[in-house]
Amino acid sequence: MSRDIRIAPSILSADFGHLADEIAAVEAAGADWIHLDVMDGRFVPNLSLGPVVVEAAKRATSLPLDVHLMIEEPERYVGDFAKAGASTLGVHVETCPHLDRAVAQIRETGTRACVVLNPATPAERIRPLLPDVDQVLVMSVNPGFGGQRFIEAVLPKIAALRRWIDAAALAVDLEVDGGIAAGSVGRASAAGANVFVAGHAVFGADDYAKAIHGLREEAAGAA
Ligand code: DX5
Ligand code: ZN
Repeated sequence: MSRDIRIAPSILSADFGHLADEIAAVEAAGADWIHLDVMDGRFVPNLSLGPVVVEAAKRATSLPLDVHLMIEEPERYVGDFAKAGASTLGVHVETCPHLDRAVAQIRETGTRACVVLNPATPAERIRPLLPDVDQVLVMSVNPGFGGQRFIEAVLPKIAALRRWIDAAALAVDLEVDGGIAAGSVGRASAAGANVFVAGHAVFGADDYAKAIHGLREEAAGAA
């Protein structure tokens, strides 16, 4: 079955002193989406960015903004990030005791809803919600930092989600985030992912276009 492959550079590994230029550069280099990592220093140990940076990214590109909320009580900020220009808002299942309510809240803002699973969280947790979401994000590192190693053990989880999505003919994007690079991108694609977040593999490369093209070719070849 053919799937739309999307490469989403994560600006966490970009040069924040030149953020607008970095975003424009990956857009020119063939990126499909821009991935923005929001961290609160509580759910994850690191701190990163808030709605003003999403707003600045919105001004810098016409690409969709894929916003990944690694924060406690994400429901409190859904409105702010939607207003800032997010196209997709991802909330971690580990942070949402009332996940279906959070998904509905995101959709009420006109934003695409994504549910995110940590490496140790089983896919079964979100199975009943699949018809109600636009996207599922499987973390392939423990969230908080760029440049970590891909955790191979998440591949069967990606494969299970792909089976459930296809069996019900759902229009749900299946995204993978963490340690995506040459090698892991193909394995994640073969397992069934179609959206690939890449921080270090893009922004750590000398030639962004070559890096994005390489990831896309490997993903497409393995799909
Ligand atoms: C990690 C973030 C990722 C990160 C990926 O918590 O969610 O989006 O930027 O970085 P790489 O691709 O370098 O693993
Ligand atoms: Zn992310």
